[in-house]
Amino acid sequence: MVKTVKYNALLIVVGVLGSGLFVLTGQQPAPSGVFTSAQAEAGRKAYEDTCGKCHTPTLLGRKGDPGELPPVSSLPVYMQEMASGPVPPLAGADFMGRWGSRKTAELTERINQAVGAFPPEGTNIPVPGHAPAESDPTAVNITAWVLQVNGARAGTVPLTKTTAIIVRSITADQTRQADAH
Ligand code: HEC
Repeated sequence: MVKTVKYNALLIVVGVLGSGLFVLTGQQPAPSGVFTSAQAEAGRKAYEDTCGKCHTPTLLGRKGDPGELPPVSSLPVYMQEMASGPVPPLAGADFMGRWGSRKTAELTERINQAVGAFPPEGTNIPVPGHAPAESDPTAVNITAWVLQVNGARAGTVPLTKTTAIIVRSITADQTRQADAH
């Protein structure tokens, strides 16, 4: 009996120390995927059809330099003015600097605004500039794609508009390091 009590106490001490170490070193294991590969794939398609014209297929954005692809002159006329200046990247160190410490739900909300402004095909948005229907999955899918390009892994749990994971906690290590500069 006495032995059991001691043993339990030891387990508790080990447990507390163990979790403390995780916090101190920031070595918490990455949570398993918060989106599915089907969502990321649907997001890629929606992104490439519209967003990618300005933010570019690599998601690295534009500086406004000549020769950036796809050429601004090849874009639909209503996009050309906005695409000829800087377009912020949606991947890499600069993007992580702005969004890494925020929650996935905030990113989805910002992407939802962009979806309303530039509705990709397959969305049910009556006029550009209107908010997508509450049930429209486009913004969630594009968020999944953006997270995947930034190194996050797909899993079995679908992303939703309310998923509130810190972006940096699920993206790639090299992005975290780049962000620390
Ligand atoms: C016509 C060019 C153009 C298109 C098309 C476009 N964007 Fe953008 N986007 C911009 C520019 C320019 C900005 C920066 C100015 C601003 O924040 O409004 C921006 C800003 C953003 C931001 C905020 C980035 C940050 O770090 O603050 C996100 C997210 C975004 N766009 C996502 C999208 C998505 C998703 C789509 C497709 C549904 C899309 N954009 C379509 C030009 C475009």
